[in-house]
Order: sequence, then structure tokens, then C-alpha cells
Amino acid sequence: MTDPAIETLLAEERRYPPPEEFSEQANAKADIYDIPFEEFWEREGRERVTWFEPFSSLLEWELPYAKWYLGGKINVAYNCLDRHVEAGLGERVAYYFEGEPVGERAPITYSQLLEEVVKSANGLKALGVGKGTPVGIYMGMGPGLPVAMLACARLGAPHTVVFGGFSAEALADRLNDMRCEILLTQDEGWRRGQTVPLKKNADEALESCPGVRKVVVGQRTRAEVPMTKGRDISWSELVEGQSSDAASCPCEPMDSEDLLYLLYTSGTTAKPKGIAHTTAGYLVGAATTHHYVFDLKPDTDVFWCAADIGWVTGHSYIVYGPLCNGATSVLYEGTPDFPDKDRWWDIVERYGVTILYTAPTAIRAHMKWGPEHAEQHDLSSLRLLGTVGEPINPEAWIWYREHIGADRLPVVDTWWQTETGMIMLTPLPGVTTAKPGAATKPFPGVEAAVVDDRGQEVGPGGGGYLVLKRPWPAMTRGIFGDDERFRATYWERFPGMYFAGDGARVDEDGDFWLLGRVDDVMNVSGHRISTIEVESALVDHPSVAEAAVCGRADSLTGQAIVAFVTLKGSEEASVEMLDVLRNHVAVKIGPIAKPANIVFTPELPKTRSGKIMRRLLRDVAEERPLGDTTTLADPTVVAEIADRAVAQPAEE
Ligand code: PRX
Repeated sequence: MTDPAIETLLAEERRYPPPEEFSEQANAKADIYDIPFEEFWEREGRERVTWFEPFSSLLEWELPYAKWYLGGKINVAYNCLDRHVEAGLGERVAYYFEGEPVGERAPITYSQLLEEVVKSANGLKALGVGKGTPVGIYMGMGPGLPVAMLACARLGAPHTVVFGGFSAEALADRLNDMRCEILLTQDEGWRRGQTVPLKKNADEALESCPGVRKVVVGQRTRAEVPMTKGRDISWSELVEGQSSDAASCPCEPMDSEDLLYLLYTSGTTAKPKGIAHTTAGYLVGAATTHHYVFDLKPDTDVFWCAADIGWVTGHSYIVYGPLCNGATSVLYEGTPDFPDKDRWWDIVERYGVTILYTAPTAIRAHMKWGPEHAEQHDLSSLRLLGTVGEPINPEAWIWYREHIGADRLPVVDTWWQTETGMIMLTPLPGVTTAKPGAATKPFPGVEAAVVDDRGQEVGPGGGGYLVLKRPWPAMTRGIFGDDERFRATYWERFPGMYFAGDGARVDEDGDFWLLGRVDDVMNVSGHRISTIEVESALVDHPSVAEAAVCGRADSLTGQAIVAFVTLKGSEEASVEMLDVLRNHVAVKIGPIAKPANIVFTPELPKTRSGKIMRRLLRDVAEERPLGDTTTLADPTVVAEIADRAVAQPAEE
């Protein structure tokens, strides 16, 4: 065996086989893994979606570009709305919309959603939007956002959704890169009791977007916002007098490979990449994974993906996957702690949520606040829990299962990316024995491996680079307008394989454990140590809610580990605690991983989607000026951490 590219130190022995009652009723049984890859995607392509014209060939693969379901004609909005209403399911709730201001609730059925989409699509048509017109969407988490996306899909107009928390500058970059002609936005949004000035930001952005000729402004808070004559029109004006009859605005028959949307991943330093997703493969991938991974029973489940639609998680598992499957979802506008820290659990109880999908960062926030908030509510409707977005520390996984999942629900840790479009590594809840911290197995039809620097597969237990070895339907069709960057970023490091940029290891059972971004790996005395393992060892201590580690230069060991630690609610930071935590890491995973410094901090710097920004922590640890902080959720956090870090001596 070759030297592992990343060492693995943490041994997690806990195992959770699926409960028998769950397995018996599960959508996926163990034999799903036996279906040959092409047969699997052929079947899903034929059965899970409705075609205007069936596809004639499954796959064309010319690395790095795949084409799926060629020759077919299909429309995403038709699959998400019309066909359900035609099948008599119009009265089913598509979204339970819960506004952030307490008491603002509005269930919206499939029929109502279809009517809204048709009216808006007719209005957009009147503005000259048609097949191929690029449309930007900059809205908050209300029903208007899926309506906007689906109206575009109905007309065949590709969209890019820009997260409502992004600045004017970020919005302008994206609108210009995609050459958007139309912007759909709203007056303001709500966030933690404050308003977010969406239209104001949009106006600022549009000063440098000459290509945008019309702006449609939805009304959420009904604040007075300036309207530019000739350019801006309110949503109510847009839809006034427009027919809501589906026949008045037939769904554009799209080729399978027509562009559905771009979603920009905010590169931490470089220009954002417009990740392209096309129509049929993306829809089949999102809907198929949604059906099997979340075991969706559309007539009884209430599904809640608590992400923002501005991220790919929301595209695939709030909008396209669930609606294609005829699911009932919760759509929540606000933050988990407004007005109180039990807001989520109130929502679960109120709507009888059965499946909850969230991120480790949210779970760790709830851990920090304490389980008493969940305990005030009846969570017995829940039957399945999921996570996505970062490696999950085993203790956070266990906390989630125990305090939210009554210590009995399956937890699915799903690994994927904006670029993959759909869940790629995941347990199947009725089949897989779960392990806290492991994303376990490739989804049926997906082939993944862990390789070393030379692209050779690393044996069981060894850490290395996660790669994907064959195409999948929802895979990105490239970076918009930048073929070279697409090849260089994902396809050149290991010829013939997609390089995800993540470290991982495979254990003796063939289960995958994610080790974080490879750029974050630390090198201590020649040992390549992943951040997640040291962080998980820290979070394993009962006083710790959250931890982030990074390497700083050290003359003796190459790099030394610096840990940033957030303690649980009532715990006090102290010199004794420093020693306790250092020793805890030494016992848990070995003295080599003992942090040289520990900095206690009430918050960690995170991106707006909740990922810890270790790059900035490295700047702090190295006492360098801070790099780009514009993608931080709260830029003040890092300055405070820097002050604390300076005050903290290193271990001898
Ligand atoms: O590093 C991995 C991490 O999130 C990255 C993808 O981020 P993004 O494109 O924003 O999409 C997030 C939602 C799909 C991955 O390269 N990541 C995502 N899920 C997991 C994860 N890391 C470990 N375990 C996961 N379950």
C-alpha cells in the first residue's frame, strides 16, 4: 500500500442499523445497489418524470462533458406542477409557507402554485422573456421565489438565483456574467427581525449592469422603494389581467440538454464560477435522490429542507426535487432563533414535519443553545433526519439523533456539491447501517473512490482525495463561459476522474468518511492531518459546542495546530480548560494532533451558507492581515477572534 495522502486518526465505533419498521416500508431496499448503472438511470428517466417526447439515447460521455437523455423533450415546470394538477392532486399543499414574523402563515396548494406561475410566466412573456432569455432572481425565502424560478422554467428562460444575503457587488457580478436581461427581486426581505433592503441593493447593482432592461419588484414588507420609470414594474402590475389558466401559457418543450439554470459558487478568492445545470438529467437526478434518500411518501410526508433556496440545496431539495415528486414541503423565511431559539421546533410541531434536512452548522448552533428548546415541543411526527454541507462531527450527529430524533430515527449524512447537482454519497435510510460522521456509500448509479497523489486507489482506512469515476445525470455541464477553468479545476488533477476538492477515507466496510477540503489539510511533523478529525475530537468534549482548527507555520514541526473553540452555553473559558481540551485531543486521536494553541471564541467565522472559513483562521493564526472577508456572514466575528488570539500564549 502507498503512503496515505491524508492520515486518519479518529476511530468512530458506534453503529446504527436501520430500524426494522423503517426498512420494511422503505422506498429503497438493499437490492437497489444491484441494478446496473445504465439500467438504473434509464428506468428513473422513464418513470420519474413525464416527457413530451421520450428520449432516444441515455448518455453521451465525452469527458468532461456528459449529455443525458438525448432526443427527449421535457419541461421542468410541467413536471413540478401541471402533471400533478392534471392527476387530481391540485388540492395537495406544495408549501407550508411560514413567514419570519410570527403568525404569518400561508399554505399554498399545487393548483394555487400553478396559477401563480402561469400568471407570472404570462407577465414575463409580455416583457419579452422567452426560451433562452437569461433572468436573474434576487429574492427572499417566500413563495415568490419558487414561483419566479418555475415561471422561468415554464418559458425555457434560464435563471440564476442570487442568495438574498449577497451584496450589490456580488449581485452585479453574477448578472453581468450570465448577461441577464431581466431581474426579479422584491422590496425587502426579513432576517432575524430586521429587514434586508433587496431592492436598494438591486438598484445599486444595476448601476453597473447595463444589460438588465426590466426589473420586476415583488412586495413582501410593502416598504416604499424607489421605482425607476421605464425599467421597474411591480409584480402586481406584471400579473394584472394575466390569465392563470395553464392552457394560456403552455410549457415550452425543452431539449434535455437545454440550460435550466446557473448557480454561482462563491470562490473564496477568485471570480465566482457559474455552475451550469441542464434540464432533464438535473431533474431526474434531483427527484430520484429525493425519493430514495428521504424515503419520500408524497401523500403523507411533510418534508422540510431548512436551507436557503439561494444555495444548491434549496434548488434541488426545496424546489425541483420535491415538487417533481409531488411532495408537501415547509418553506420557512427566517432564522432558527427568531423570535426564540425554539422556532424550528415550533415549526416541526405545527406542521407535523416528518423529514428534516439541515446542515451541521445549524445542528451545532442548536447544541450550543441546549436541548431544552427542542424539549418544549412535540417532535414525534419526525421519522427521518438528514444533514448536508460540511463534515459532521460525530458528537453533533449523535446530538441530532438523540435530541431531535428521539434516539431512534435514521440520520442520513449526504455529501454532494453545487457541481454535482444531486446527493452523491449517502446512507439509504432503510438499508444502510449508519456511522456518526460517515456519508457511507455512493448513491446507486454513482461510482466514487479515494485516491492518492498519483491517482491510485487508497486501501481501506487510508485517507486521500475523493473522486467520481463516471458521469451522473445531474452533473454540471461546466462553468458558464470558461471551459478551461472547468477542466483545470475538476478534471486535470486525476485524468479521467472528477476531483471534488475534498479529502476522504474509505473504511473496511467500504464506507466513505469526508475529511474536509484538501486545501485545509495540515502538515504536522510530516503527518498530513485533516481538520475535521481534530475538530471532532474537540467537539467530543462535553463542554465544547463547536471547534475549527487550522495550521500555522512552526519552525520545529512545519505546521502547528491552532484550535478555535466555542464552548456550550454555560461553560467558562479558563486556563484549566485549555489543558483539559489539549489532553482530550491527545487521548482521543493522539498527541500528534494536540493543538499548540487554543483560542476561545463565542462565534466562528462562517460563510453565509454556514461553512467555517478556515482560510481566515489561518490568517489570524499566522498574524497576517485578513484576506477577503466579503463572503463572511458576520465580518465582525473575525476581528474579535484576532484580538483574542493575540492574547493567547502557545503551549511550550
Ligand atoms: O466540502 C464539501 C462540503 O461542501 C462542499 C460543497 O459545497 P456547496 O457546493 O456549497 O454545496 C453544499 C450543499 C450540497 C463539498 O465539496 N460538503 C457538503 N456535504 C458534505 C460536505 N462535506 C462533508 N460531508 C457532507 N455531507
